[in-house]
Amino acid sequence: MSWPPDRVFVTGGAGFIGGSLVAALLAQGSRVTVFDDLSGADDDWWTPSEAFLRPTDGSAPRLSFIRGDVRDLPAVESALAGHDLVIHLAAHTDIATGAADPSRDLHGGVIGTWNVLEAMRRRGVRSLFYASSGTVYGYPSRVPTPEDHGPLLPESYYAAAKLAGEALISGFAALNGWRSVIFRFGNTIGARSNHGVVHDLVVKLLRDPSRLALLGDGQQRKPYVAVEDVVTGMLLAGVKAPARPVSIYNIGTAGTLSVARVAELVIEALGLEAGSVEQRFQPASSGGGGGWPGDTPLVDFDTSALRALGWEPRWSAEDAVRRAARGTRERLLARGTPLLTASERRAGAARSTAGNPDDSRRAAVPAGHAE
Ligand SMILES: NC(=O)c1ccc[n+]([C@@H]2O[C@H](COP(=O)([O-])OP(=O)(O)OC[C@H]3O[C@@H](n4cnc5c(N)ncnc54)[C@H](O)[C@@H]3O)[C@@H](O)[C@H]2O)c1
Repeated sequence: MSWPPDRVFVTGGAGFIGGSLVAALLAQGSRVTVFDDLSGADDDWWTPSEAFLRPTDGSAPRLSFIRGDVRDLPAVESALAGHDLVIHLAAHTDIATGAADPSRDLHGGVIGTWNVLEAMRRRGVRSLFYASSGTVYGYPSRVPTPEDHGPLLPESYYAAAKLAGEALISGFAALNGWRSVIFRFGNTIGARSNHGVVHDLVVKLLRDPSRLALLGDGQQRKPYVAVEDVVTGMLLAGVKAPARPVSIYNIGTAGTLSVARVAELVIEALGLEAGSVEQRFQPASSGGGGGWPGDTPLVDFDTSALRALGWEPRWSAEDAVRRAARGTRERLLARGTPLLTASERRAGAARSTAGNPDDSRRAAVPAGHAE
């Protein structure tokens, strides 16, 4: 595949990582199709790339949007035809609710990935990037964990679905002569995220700066990485990863932060006195110190493979958290929408669409730009 690719198809491109990645792909000259059902996207997801969606200089738009569901193979197949590279980000990203209903990760994860791969096979598209996760390692017996560590024993349906996706990719790539790159992300953070620990802590502190409930015992340790660094790593791998069926890269900063430390950093970034915030830890009833059933309490991986390609994160984990916290506060206040944690927002959406699932498909793109 030549780089930059001309036509890129991004499933889940309206989400948090997708938004930054799509903007970077457009900036380097690619034409991008976002394929997303909007189930997890904010309604202003397209604004960073508006100039490419609605060019004012009379040129053809380089960004197009198709509202579609990866669980629908015919829809994926017809939308994906004619692209040079598929970037598969769409997934059911709520590990906690997935723990109560394993079918979400089966359909949104395993079958959605199967459909993307089968659509690529039918339409002769041979290059793929896949968003996997550091959670595929399960509770690691070796840290920092390198990409070739095994056996991989995930501890949630979400992580199991990610790993199943990796296995399917390996099979399709070997049999069809593809080049695929699998990225195992650490906790990716930034101002535009609408989920994850930094987002939720900022929401809680904006609602009540005197107390903070933390999921888990505070000792869960994970690598935190700025979304811009994740995007840089993915684009670099596009240029430099070897031309073989499957390459795998961990993406995260070196070392880990505990949730207790993340809370300290967020409190400080919001200008609050640590002593003025009463912190309460809430370990999940499933035990192990995690914040919810299926929370992997330790992700600590080796990123030397991506660094060997020349990647270096611009922000340390601590700086990434501070920056994400400040940016999240500014964005939430500017949007003026209700301050909701990810699980509250998802529960509200589920309640309001009960009985009519189509209502969850909000019109999130300016008229004339949704296909
Ligand atoms: N953010 C992280 O810390 C992190 C860490 C590890 C892995 N990942 C993976 O990276 C990818 C992107 O993560 P994110 O943080 O941007 O998540 P996100 O929830 O913000 O984005 C996911 C996007 O996929 C869309 N989507 C969900 N189900 C879909 C379906 N069935 N069909 C079409 N679109 C669908 C959602 O509307 C959303 O826009 C996901 O696969 C996630 O599992 C993220």
